[in-house]
Amino acid sequence: MEICRVDLKEETGNSYDIIIGAGLIGNLAIELKQKPVANAYAIITDSNVKRLYGETLLKNFQAKNLHAHLISFPAGEKSKSRDTKEKVENEMLNLGFGRDSCIIALGGGVVGDLAGFVAATYMRGIPCIQVPTTLLAMVDSSIGGKVAVDTMHAKNAIGAFHQPKKVIIDMNFLKTLPKKELANGLAEMIKHALISDRDFFHFLEKNIDKILNCDLETLEQAVKRSCEIKIHIVEEDEKEKGLRKLLNYGHTIGHAIESALKYKISHGQAISIGMSYAAKLSAKNGFLDEGSVIRQNNLLEYIGLPHKLSHRKLKPREILEHIQYDKKIINKKLNFVLLNSIGDAFVSDDVSMEDLKGILGE
Ligand SMILES: NC(=O)c1ccc[n+]([C@@H]2O[C@H](COP(=O)([O-])OP(=O)(O)OC[C@H]3O[C@@H](n4cnc5c(N)ncnc54)[C@H](O)[C@@H]3O)[C@@H](O)[C@H]2O)c1
Ligand SMILES: [Zn+2]
Repeated sequence: MEICRVDLKEETGNSYDIIIGAGLIGNLAIELKQKPVANAYAIITDSNVKRLYGETLLKNFQAKNLHAHLISFPAGEKSKSRDTKEKVENEMLNLGFGRDSCIIALGGGVVGDLAGFVAATYMRGIPCIQVPTTLLAMVDSSIGGKVAVDTMHAKNAIGAFHQPKKVIIDMNFLKTLPKKELANGLAEMIKHALISDRDFFHFLEKNIDKILNCDLETLEQAVKRSCEIKIHIVEEDEKEKGLRKLLNYGHTIGHAIESALKYKISHGQAISIGMSYAAKLSAKNGFLDEGSVIRQNNLLEYIGLPHKLSHRKLKPREILEHIQYDKKIINKKLNFVLLNSIGDAFVSDDVSMEDLKGILGE
């Protein structure tokens, strides 16, 4: 078992631990019996995770005489809405959850973002324990306190910062995770390595077969390192004023592709394409060497992620339109994350729409 501490400077009282290990979920009820966080627990999950793990967790809580209820909603991004938030809140109110309650967010990033946002506003804010069950949620969405729902206008349009009380990462959840979902998490892990840790990138290259075969020991090492990178960035920049922008590597183009294709492409695929264009631009502007571009793209390709989008599917013009819609453009330039080398990223304010048009057109 590994413990990583998230030390928040702006809100010291809100610092918390991320606990990583195999089989941790089996101890949660015992732990809360010994050291209660609240008088009642709302386990919030989606329909898939309910079936796989939620019902067992509820039974564990009941066996320890903890006051708990399981609240679920249909799996999928569509559920990350104000409508679902209201339904969950109504159910909690009907069940009599008061200010002395705690939310257990059991699931992927959709559950974490939605349940975390419910926790941020329910009775003006109650504690939340994040229990991520996808690789993406383990290394990305459960850390940092950003919680939100989507609207018809934009993803994550309504939300808050609400730091969890604790994050419990049980590696065993990954045993049932579909390969496509594993790739989504791996894409973010590779991004973490590319922006800040050359050795970790090398580790991923060396161990990629074990990771793809779901070797839990190797995955645990990779999850820990990936969490440490995100923690470091979040600690330095809790409210997203500067350093956190590095996490957007591959995401400016990636988000534009996702929204242009109306989310019919996975997030991992979209940011993989975004990272390959960002690396290409880094090389074109004289920062990154060509060999590193190839190394990055080879690793992404190895895990089955694309690094190019066919112009038949999406024209460069359409991607540019979505970037323009999404980003603040000052003097025809936009902020864009580039690489100096593998493990060293920076935010350039000198990328123009013309530059992007150039690389997207190739
Ligand atoms: N808050 C943040 O900082 C942040 C960062 C990155 C992403 N996000 C958000 O995260 C969301 C995406 O998260 P996600 O990729 O985890 O998607 P998800 O929550 O939709 O989970 C993907 C699928 O896997 C299923 N699943 C979950 N755990 C499983 C398990 N152990 N075994 C089998 N199936 C399982 C789910 O039911 C779902 O069908 C997006 O809404 C995104 O905006 C938030
Ligand atoms: Zn992402």
